[in-house]
Amino acid sequence: MSKNRNSRRSFIANTAATTGLIAASSFAPTRFAIGATSKIKVGILLPYSGTYAMLGNSITNAMKMRIEQAGGRMGGRLVEYVALDSEMSVPKAPQNTNKLIKKEKVNFLVGPVHSGIAAAMAKIMGQRKSPIMIVPNAGSNAVTGPLCAPNIFRTSFSNWQPAFPGGVLMGKEGHKTCVTISWKYGAGIQMMDAGRNGFMTKGGKSIKDILLPFPNVEFQAHLSEIAALKPDCVFAFFSGGGAIKFLKDYEAAGLKNKIPLYGPGFLTEGIEKAAGSAAEGIKTTLHYASNLDNPENHKFRTNYKTAFNTDPNVFSVQGYDTGSLLLQASAAVGGDVESVVDVIEAMETSRVPDSPRGPWSMSKAHNPIQNIYLRQVEGGQQKFLGVAAKDLADPAAGCKMT
Ligand code: BEZ
Repeated sequence: MSKNRNSRRSFIANTAATTGLIAASSFAPTRFAIGATSKIKVGILLPYSGTYAMLGNSITNAMKMRIEQAGGRMGGRLVEYVALDSEMSVPKAPQNTNKLIKKEKVNFLVGPVHSGIAAAMAKIMGQRKSPIMIVPNAGSNAVTGPLCAPNIFRTSFSNWQPAFPGGVLMGKEGHKTCVTISWKYGAGIQMMDAGRNGFMTKGGKSIKDILLPFPNVEFQAHLSEIAALKPDCVFAFFSGGGAIKFLKDYEAAGLKNKIPLYGPGFLTEGIEKAAGSAAEGIKTTLHYASNLDNPENHKFRTNYKTAFNTDPNVFSVQGYDTGSLLLQASAAVGGDVESVVDVIEAMETSRVPDSPRGPWSMSKAHNPIQNIYLRQVEGGQQKFLGVAAKDLADPAAGCKMT
């Protein structure tokens, strides 16, 4: 990175010298001087409809709240948002991405929630030097693996990170067999694989892996099959509206008190109240718990509840931390966010010490190194039970940052 930075600086110096700009410095304002008066444009590509709408809204609300807390300015410049509903459509992802980059000319691109869309966006972004993309949710392992790129950062997790410790947990709790169930797309498949692999490290075995088309919620036939197979436990990845339906159907099928349910924490996150008794008691692993006892979390939860009249969740935390990263990096370059190489350098060395999830830092592959917590739903909240994996970094297999 610093090599690029130096070569950019010497390019500017050489260009200035050869064009006589240094001598004629009063001739025109520098690029930064122009930029400093204009707004910073943040493009947002998130779901505002369908099964993941709650996730998109939680991220957007908290990111804007964080930036508002800083006076609505980043590095001294006002911020303008351009938001598009991703509709969770992978085919529409290239068109939406190009619209924000080429038509709206955004300085930063924040999105998406869905792993398939993330991979489609990363293929476009990795071919370009700018803008900088910040992934505030989608866990696609590839985005900080084979598709990693200098201008792609993530403030959330890789699919492997919360799912692997979930599988380990099932083994630690004495289970020997499980059935895994999820949606058939990037996130579902990767979390299922990670959970199964974690379970295997403790001698466990999956006797059946069930995949449904995304975002299908016809669970009945699969629940009958699970009842007939009688595994020791079930490992599931669903999220948002689909997770509410799955938990309710699992309880209604009479399985809740017979076959313990586990998964990465998305299974119960942000839907604790909507799922009611169907979510109560379920243990999951994730990089957040409602009652984490740190001052940032207390402050964050109070402010979020006051602003939006609802409790925050991990998706809001990820949005909030996206806001913090944007603020930090923009301040580091004194608002000159058009100096993309310098912004990247600031993001690469960033630590987010004041996150509600606890402190985390950016890995070389641009993914958070963070604690994964064991939590349990109790009274509609995610109660912290312990640290399942401390400072967990994604293996980032296949990432070659050029
Ligand atoms: C994903 O597609 O990467 C994803 C969606 C919802 C929750 C977690 C991950």
